[in-house]
Amino acid sequence: TGTMKINEKNHLEVGGIDTIELVNKYGTPSYVYDIEAVKQKARAFKAVFSKRKVKAQVAYASKAFSCLAIYQLMAKEGLSLDVVSGGELYTAIKAEYPSEKIHFHGNNKSDDEMFAGLDYQVGCFVVDNFYELDRLNQFTSERKQRMKILIRVTPGVEAHTHDYISTGQNDSKFGFDLENGQAKQAAILASQMPYIDVIGLHSHIGSQIFELEGFNLAINKMLTYSKKWKEEFGFDLSVLNVGGGFGIQYTVEDEPLSIAEYIDSIITEVENVTDALGLNMPEIWIEPGRSLVGDAGMTLYETGSQKSIPDVRHYLAIDGGMSDNIRPALYHAKYTGVLANRANDQASDLYSIAGKCCESGDMLIWDLPLPKPQKKDILAVFSTGAYGYAMASNYNRIPRPPVIFVENGSDFLAIQRETYNDLMRLEHSLLSNN
Ligand code: LLP
Repeated sequence: TGTMKINEKNHLEVGGIDTIELVNKYGTPSYVYDIEAVKQKARAFKAVFSKRKVKAQVAYASKAFSCLAIYQLMAKEGLSLDVVSGGELYTAIKAEYPSEKIHFHGNNKSDDEMFAGLDYQVGCFVVDNFYELDRLNQFTSERKQRMKILIRVTPGVEAHTHDYISTGQNDSKFGFDLENGQAKQAAILASQMPYIDVIGLHSHIGSQIFELEGFNLAINKMLTYSKKWKEEFGFDLSVLNVGGGFGIQYTVEDEPLSIAEYIDSIITEVENVTDALGLNMPEIWIEPGRSLVGDAGMTLYETGSQKSIPDVRHYLAIDGGMSDNIRPALYHAKYTGVLANRANDQASDLYSIAGKCCESGDMLIWDLPLPKPQKKDILAVFSTGAYGYAMASNYNRIPRPPVIFVENGSDFLAIQRETYNDLMRLEHSLLSNN
């Protein structure tokens, strides 16, 4: 995808830049983002809505990868922004994100986080639970400040995805239950709160979803309840937020739909069901994270030690691992990659890519076909742009890699590499002479 190709030196190139030049300039490991690819995705989401003449907001779910520069890029692309914490909100403010385009999520917002959202006058709070609703009522009343809210519901839909990351089923820590009446109770309560405007409902059924069925079910449920509530207590649904979760390709086994297919189907379902129920067509809001940045990002590593167990396996270690990509260890996530310094060379055997952390579970890729490794090859691992840097840690005191944006032959250092000093920055010494 994007602008990736193999150049005349047999090197992997992205954004018009030879990855080996990037390695010489910034070292390894490094995350590299193909900015043209990110822009293409952002525009693809927006294009479907405008083609279908449906009012919409496409909000970047910034948990997938948050930093100043990506926020600035998404703002420039005209996207809204989903933030889930004071830290993401703070970064958005520093990025001068238009406040009315910020949607404030989170299942346990602190008082301070809520004050920050109110001070900054975010576009809406996505209210997750009664405790939050109660405090939002109190804070908005004290300040005499209006705030729009979406009510987050669990529509009882199980998306076919890994257990850890499915959030739509009823037994979930997120949101109000639709079926047991809690969502209705929240909607009634909120509608009586003097400074709160309920603008609609929100659901997020999971992540890395390849089927349309889950979205259709969630849309059906939310619209059906909206219709009932309209008759019962005048509930007015002006926004239907169907969350994110659109799948991307990590390996050849993944067969995601195109952005246009996901969004077209969602629009059609909302149109059909509102028609059938005699409701007004709501604005459709979505919250893609992974599908905006996931396959636009890659990680460049240098290869190091090798170990071969005769008749069993070749291990090939790299200079990073679960500290920069926890997903294989946490979700058994699959990745693929190539040797970026000889991208077209024929594979000769299977190599299992080991991270450098002190955990046997720190294996990045099992059985990757590669040419016979030489010293200090550069391994490019693809589709690491979502939940990579965002979930990176300093486990084993490994500094976080830098993040480099490439586009049209230029590179931009969005986040610099952490130093050992950075790792020690917050620490106090027990020795008096230090
Ligand atoms: N909206 C809400 C309310 C969410 O909870 C999420 C993701 C999204 C939108 C964006 O979902 P996406 O489009 O990126 O699938 N760390 C896991 C994924 C966790 C997803 C959490 N919520 C992973 O690495 O696979």
